Amino acid sequence: KLIKLSKGNIMNERKTLLVNKDNHLEIGGIDTLSLAKQYGTPLYVMDKTYVKNVCKSYVSALDKSYGYGIISYASKAFCCKDIFRTINAEGLGIDVVSMGELYTALSVGFPSEKIIFHGNNKTCEELVYAIENNVGLIVVDAYSELDDIDKICSQIGKKQDVLIRVNPGVEAHTHHYIQTSKPDSKFGFSIENGDALDFIKRILNYKTLTLRGLHCHIGSQIFEQKSFIIAVEKMVDFYAKVNNELGIEFDILDLGGGFGIYYSNDDKKMSLDSYCAFIEAIANSLKENLQKHNLKKPYLILEPGRSIVGEAGITLYTVGRIKEIKGLKNYLAIDGGMFDNPRFALYQAKYTVKSASNVNGTIDKTYTIAGKCCESGDIIAENVALPKIKEGDVLAVFSTGAYNYSMASNYNRNCIPPVVMVENGKSYVAVKKQSLDDLVRNDV
Ligand code: LLP
Repeated sequence: KLIKLSKGNIMNERKTLLVNKDNHLEIGGIDTLSLAKQYGTPLYVMDKTYVKNVCKSYVSALDKSYGYGIISYASKAFCCKDIFRTINAEGLGIDVVSMGELYTALSVGFPSEKIIFHGNNKTCEELVYAIENNVGLIVVDAYSELDDIDKICSQIGKKQDVLIRVNPGVEAHTHHYIQTSKPDSKFGFSIENGDALDFIKRILNYKTLTLRGLHCHIGSQIFEQKSFIIAVEKMVDFYAKVNNELGIEFDILDLGGGFGIYYSNDDKKMSLDSYCAFIEAIANSLKENLQKHNLKKPYLILEPGRSIVGEAGITLYTVGRIKEIKGLKNYLAIDGGMFDNPRFALYQAKYTVKSASNVNGTIDKTYTIAGKCCESGDIIAENVALPKIKEGDVLAVFSTGAYNYSMASNYNRNCIPPVVMVENGKSYVAVKKQSLDDLVRNDV
């Protein structure tokens, strides 16, 4: 059952952001100005109610439309102990792509059989750690990785369940850096050129590896159902081919993640119902295609990351220097920047930005929101129309819950901001602010 959200002047599709009677922005029932005052800025704020509601919707949509599978949260989107506790409590699995993500999950007792380990270049050290800790599935993506897993399993005396990453060659309409299914992608083995079939034949020679099924992930920030449906068709066609030629029956099909979220007016507004419709469409197409080839229903894994946490998060900043270059540009500098959100610099990502103290105020000027790093490309958003703004005001950037904290860096030796969770009018620190001591901790 979904958790009820407070009523008010709603700012976003998720109903997590409200404007209160003073025209202040509110998240999870708390005025953002008091959050900024209590915890300082820059500050990542995450609405836990929203995260839980997406999890509940996803779990029930998969259950209703397919009835045999799991939602596996792609933890690269936002990884810390607290989120793993929530994800576990909601009954989801997780995927990890590094020893660090795996370590974080295990450190809160995340059930290892519900962990999937991805990566195009897992090191031997990572494989040993994953196998010793009994991760449920390893998604293999290289010939020599098979030898390494075999060696480790032989030494420990165990077998490892694996999926193979295949590239179904689906063009998804998204930024080319986050497209993963083009013919020249570094990920997976191509179905089209026969590499995937060869790789499967190779795996069958290893007694320590149990091939459970196929995995693909076509890209991220995708709004077109069609892209997923094409991927389903291609994956099932390939499954049928493997079944015909090698007599293998797979019991797992992992179709990856990639559902888009709303950042700016360039994006579709996705309600919880529209995500459920995505899952239903995928499940229906999968059932149809399996039937067409007379194949047994595999356990279905979906790996959404961004859509679970993205719109749950906002970042609060304090306005610093304002510089108006006559006839050219108005810069408004904030106390954060590419070190807490590198997505404009990397993908020309667009964001919605509001004044937290005067959300619906009359527009005064258009600004380029610049960070404080020594780099011209350190921008958070361009062409942001804002009401009258002065130094010390608080700005809120929306939809920063995914791939912001997880991609933060210490560039210019800035400290990574803290993450605060809000729920039902209460807040707590999920990740502490880095200290100056943290910055020099490993310096010798
Ligand atoms: N599964 C696999 C194997 C993936 O590689 C990814 C994302 C996901 C699932 C989750 O995709 P999502 O549901 O979050 O779209 N840093 C980029 C996004 C990179 C996505 C990488 N893989 C960004 O900030 O947009």
